Amino acid sequence: EAAEKGGYEHYMLKEIHEQPTALRQAISGRIDEMKGQVDLELDLPAEYLNSLEEVQFIACGTSYHAGLYAAKLFEEYADVRASAEIASEYEFTGGRDPWRTLVVAVTQSGETADTLSALKRAKRAGARTLAVTNTLGSTVTREVDDTVFIRAGPEIGVAATKTFCSQVATLALVAVHVSRKRGTISSAEAQELLSDLRGLPGAVQQVLDAEGQVRLAAEEHGDGDAFFFIGRRLGAPVALEGALKLKEISYDHAEGFPAGELKHGPLALVTSETPVLAVLTEGAKARETLNNVKEVESRGAPVIGCASDVVDAEKFVDKVFTVPELGELEPLVANVYFQLFSYYVANQKGRSIDKPRNLAKSVTVE
Ligand code: G6P
Repeated sequence: EAAEKGGYEHYMLKEIHEQPTALRQAISGRIDEMKGQVDLELDLPAEYLNSLEEVQFIACGTSYHAGLYAAKLFEEYADVRASAEIASEYEFTGGRDPWRTLVVAVTQSGETADTLSALKRAKRAGARTLAVTNTLGSTVTREVDDTVFIRAGPEIGVAATKTFCSQVATLALVAVHVSRKRGTISSAEAQELLSDLRGLPGAVQQVLDAEGQVRLAAEEHGDGDAFFFIGRRLGAPVALEGALKLKEISYDHAEGFPAGELKHGPLALVTSETPVLAVLTEGAKARETLNNVKEVESRGAPVIGCASDVVDAEKFVDKVFTVPELGELEPLVANVYFQLFSYYVANQKGRSIDKPRNLAKSVTVE
């Protein structure tokens, strides 16, 4: 087993480090940057995409957070109503012609019972379906009209890391494909997003190279009473994912909020013993989020900001983790800091990181 972990103490840490490779696999052979086009071998004709009224992402856990990220990208680029739905809560509410709703099941394993049963509901109602999964031959691939593989390679750690990153990257490719076919983005806009996607493995590598800094921060702040993660727009799903990761593996109380919601309740819980981790990047309304950072700082909370150049974060937060410039994908890169932070907090507490108590890699009951 030690050999399988490739010298890392846990599969989770190995998989966090595999992200640049996983991302290269996700985009390999699929991008024509010169033309601003994507080839995913999808059977989604322009005629269908032009008549599309809505896109619904159905998923659970970490995959749901990838769906939230994707929904925002679709609304922005494909100019179509898009939402992410927790699979166990899903009811199909399509328009007059359900076929014009594209339902996208996002599931790493392709076997999650809640997601499969939501998918069946959508199919029964007459929606068109697409699966975004990591697993060849999985049940979900047999249930849908089309499949896109995220090509992340096997993930052993129960807490999903590289598959989240690869799901978002793959869904961004789908967003470019759909948007180009619908004519809602120019080739120049597509080229920009595709060039960010190409830059993603390198940007993630830069975060991994700063691992020592994250480990120190985890040592300094790891004994907080609770941890809050905040972000806006594309930073909001990343805040949810950051909190989920930390609670899954460290067993500490952690919550993620859209930053603007802090003042409507959670702020009552903020003290000097509640570290706050904020996404302060492009695509995450960093300037507005800084206002929320100030609110928690004045209550004494230590603040760690994952920040790019869009704001002068240093002035306002206790610690800055630097996110390289990468447009709408900066929040996804910030998430890698959250993964490392969770890992080091959990590791210093001696938790069972690869197999947290009460959790399973794939949940096949509803
Ligand atoms: C389980 C895992 C999570 C995962 C979720 C959805 O709860 O512990 O890490 O995000 O299932 O899994 P899926 O395979 O559908 O992406």
